[in-house]
Amino acid sequence: MAIDYASRIPNNVDLGADRRLQRALEDWQPKFVDWWREMGPEGYQASEVYLRTAMTAEPSGWAHFGHVRMPDYRWGIFLAPPEPERRIAFGDHAGAPAWQELPGEYRAALRGLIVTQGDTEPASVEQQRRLGHTCPSLYDLRNLFQVNVEEGRHLWAMVYLLDAFFGRDGREEAEQLLLRRSGDPDRPRILNAFNEPTPDWLSFFMFTFFTDRDGKYQLASLAESGFDPLSRTCRFMLTEEAHHMFVGESGVARVVRRACELVRAHDTDQIRAYGGIDLATLQKYLNFHFAVSIDLFGQELSTNAANYYTMGLKGRFQETRIDDDHRLRDATYPILRAAGGTLREHAAPALNALNERLRDAYIADCARGLARWNKIIHSFGIDRQLTLPHRAFNRAIGAFARLSVAPDGRLLDAAAWDRCGADWLPTADDRAYVMSLMQPVTEPGRVAGWIAPPARGIDGKDIDYQYVRLA
Ligand SMILES: [Fe+2]
Ligand SMILES: [Fe+2]
Repeated sequence: MAIDYASRIPNNVDLGADRRLQRALEDWQPKFVDWWREMGPEGYQASEVYLRTAMTAEPSGWAHFGHVRMPDYRWGIFLAPPEPERRIAFGDHAGAPAWQELPGEYRAALRGLIVTQGDTEPASVEQQRRLGHTCPSLYDLRNLFQVNVEEGRHLWAMVYLLDAFFGRDGREEAEQLLLRRSGDPDRPRILNAFNEPTPDWLSFFMFTFFTDRDGKYQLASLAESGFDPLSRTCRFMLTEEAHHMFVGESGVARVVRRACELVRAHDTDQIRAYGGIDLATLQKYLNFHFAVSIDLFGQELSTNAANYYTMGLKGRFQETRIDDDHRLRDATYPILRAAGGTLREHAAPALNALNERLRDAYIADCARGLARWNKIIHSFGIDRQLTLPHRAFNRAIGAFARLSVAPDGRLLDAAAWDRCGADWLPTADDRAYVMSLMQPVTEPGRVAGWIAPPARGIDGKDIDYQYVRLA
């Protein structure tokens, strides 16, 4: 399904046939570009960036590469192709045809889901807007901007749903999405992880590995939605999200590789003297980003999650591949809770435990990424592993938020936590050290000393290709 690039707003939803929607989006577009100029990548609006643009919505061969100034990027509205005869796969309406129009009784619930998802997209652009000044290479700078323009497009995707299906209050929500600001105490972004600063590139790689992966799981469960336009929107977004996680996983992998090279070259773990990020510091950053990201899945037991499921609005990860009744009225699901000074599993109603189930799928996915990083460490003959902290570690949301829990899952008293916290989370010194490494490298082919070069370039180009033409 090719995308119409001739119209002002590139799209594959036949926008020309819907004058009302077209007007709403054409009214929003200049406000979006104003927001992009104000809150998008600082200092690079005039640079030409080797970006990938979606040209068709088919899973294969949809990408087109070329140098573009970011404010000229062809943002637009791209839905995955429709599945003919698609049916609702779960909940009270299981088996009924998927909704092509908004189900009126679920209007408020759907609007909330779409706004919460939509708010994360511009938020991450805001969080990352100053990183360009300290890029470790032009290759990385280009990847940052690719992620940024695609998050911008994800915002478009959610605004399309608001404008197409929600009328006046949809338009108001679309405006609000451009008015909140990451980290602003007066008008913060909705979810806390999206108000945390992303001050350095190690944080950026951890964010794209852990927090964009939360996005993958949220989008995947919305892709199961009985509301077909939401499902198709999210399915297309997932193809872009995969690249963001690649940036994170390969970015951390290169920091790990560089650390291992320095450990070997100097025969010590203390590699800061040689300009590397030691594995102990990496572990602390990992701990921090993991905990913040698993908070995004919400409470372990949630009636909202149960309702979204029963209503047919938000499914489980890969719902249609699960072999059960897809209603879950009598099913249970194991969750952890603190009892008698330890954390114990107990059986909770599966409908209420859907957040925890999604978190489980996410954690297993994170663990696979860590295994690949650990393979690199192992290949250097270094006897150390990166590990995921326990899910109860350093939580701010859910039943574990009230507890002090060590990365290995031990329950601690407050004094023990105060003694050890600095061993487990980045300290001000750690952050200052990482920040001190953030010196820009913009000569084609050169890479900062704290990170290994990428294994290969983008779109078949060499590593020393001019991925960004600085203005
Ligand atoms: Fe996104
Ligand atoms: Fe993303």
